[in-house]
Amino acid sequence: MTTHDTRWWQHGIVYQIYPRSFQDTDGDGIGDLAGIVSRLDYLSWLGVDAIWLSPVFPSPMKDFGYDISDFCAIHPIFGTLDEFDRLVTEAHRRGMRLILDYVPNHTSDQHPWFQASRSSRDDPKRDWYIWRDPGPDGGPPNNWLSTFGGSGWEFDEATGQYYYHAFLKEQPDLNWRDPEVVRAMHDALRFWLDRGVDGFRVDVLWHLIKDDRFRDNPINPEWRPGHDPYQRLVPVYTTDRPEVLDVVAGLRSVVDEYDDRLLIGEIYLPLERLVAYYGTDLEGVHLPFNFQLVEAPWHARSLARMIEDYEEALPPGGWPNWVLGNHDKPRIASRVGTAQARVAAMMLLTLRGTPTMYYGDEIGMHDVPIPPDRIQDPFEKNVPGLGLGRDPQRTPMQWEPGRAAGFSTAEPWLPVPGDADTVNVATQEQAPDSMLALYRNLVALRRGEPALNRGSFVRIEAEGDVLVYLREHEGRCFAVLLNLGDEPHEAHGVPAGAVVLSTGLDRSGEPVEGTVSLHAGEGLIVEVGRRGR
Ligand code: GLC
Ligand code: MG
Repeated sequence: MTTHDTRWWQHGIVYQIYPRSFQDTDGDGIGDLAGIVSRLDYLSWLGVDAIWLSPVFPSPMKDFGYDISDFCAIHPIFGTLDEFDRLVTEAHRRGMRLILDYVPNHTSDQHPWFQASRSSRDDPKRDWYIWRDPGPDGGPPNNWLSTFGGSGWEFDEATGQYYYHAFLKEQPDLNWRDPEVVRAMHDALRFWLDRGVDGFRVDVLWHLIKDDRFRDNPINPEWRPGHDPYQRLVPVYTTDRPEVLDVVAGLRSVVDEYDDRLLIGEIYLPLERLVAYYGTDLEGVHLPFNFQLVEAPWHARSLARMIEDYEEALPPGGWPNWVLGNHDKPRIASRVGTAQARVAAMMLLTLRGTPTMYYGDEIGMHDVPIPPDRIQDPFEKNVPGLGLGRDPQRTPMQWEPGRAAGFSTAEPWLPVPGDADTVNVATQEQAPDSMLALYRNLVALRRGEPALNRGSFVRIEAEGDVLVYLREHEGRCFAVLLNLGDEPHEAHGVPAGAVVLSTGLDRSGEPVEGTVSLHAGEGLIVEVGRRGR
């Protein structure tokens, strides 16, 4: 594959912003679009190619923007459409793309569509949502559960039927079997594409179609009390239905009406099902999010196997991608620890496929403990005490020492941790060995080296806690050596070359060949064939 064969979303790096927490400019303690604009220079200094924004649309904020009451407008908390257009222009001016969140599975219960739908059984929009008569006992129509706890069915007194909601009861599911829903939702895509948006991350894509016979989901034999209550059933009739792939192809065809736009799908499924979302003949999403690094245990051997299996499962022409964290999952620094977070960064930015970074991971932000009176996430409120709440990974970006870490002049909507005085952008910009310095070096190296941003993945090996792989493009080759353990280790059989980057930022230029010593939690990128110093 030659250089010009890859698209921006293949060789580029995506950076996820959770807009409520990136930068507040109007002093309400909540991030806004003007704040994002004011930080674009930082993002371009960091070197990312595309920004994905979690939802910024009008919303009652029951699920912090994932409950949308108007798909084609901006929530005043974040700003105006004019400010949004400015963000697009300013991002593009810096050579960065802008990706929006698209939430097709459900609307807010305050959306005019649902208001109409619930108004009467005869309303023309009744069928836009999933309404069912009560079960024989007068209870819910079947056993389907809500991801956020309790039944997935909510009774509507006025019309005597239940509606289905895979998430909160304030997030009724749209009925994607209705052609009018399909048309309206396609138009919402076009609204943003016409404004110059470069693509979408599609929320809970594998949920869009439910069983047309409304069969009960089977019991999960592995479930035990104390586990996430949603896991009590296996969601075979509510998710990943065969017909969903037609819906995906429909979304793709809309995006393909425009030049060079991107569709990413949020999909939590086992590998063999995940890759189905590339679609027959790659007519599905360009990138079905690969969350394996978010979920896999941090062990060299199992990660090597996982990476290999993923590479093998990809359909011909299917482009890989990797994610370390997002607004729904504990942060990488909390999952694997501060030292290993550096190794993880090196892995994310040297594997084959598009990397997606989560804001704040580049400075090593960890999950922030949330005092009970500051809990915001409805998941934690509905299903308390199981560690399911997502506030800890959604706290304000830490920009500088001092009040609210430079995020806001007011009390932020979620707390800033005590160590923000050291874990912040301004401090780390000054420190040549900081996490931020490491990320910036990794990003620069990846951008500059086709072997890393589009090259082939040659092989992978695990020896003890050390993971080794090679990336290659037109004769240039890099070996990546990652020590996932907390003991020093020796890697053997390393081809002759020189270190171009180490996680400690202290070994560049060192010649290596054969056996290489790695410190605990150290990673090295070796340019094979280069002479050291
Ligand atoms: C996705 C979002 C999550 C949201 C849910 C319902 O998983 O990432 O934040 O709560 O969908 O929209
Ligand atoms: Mg604000």
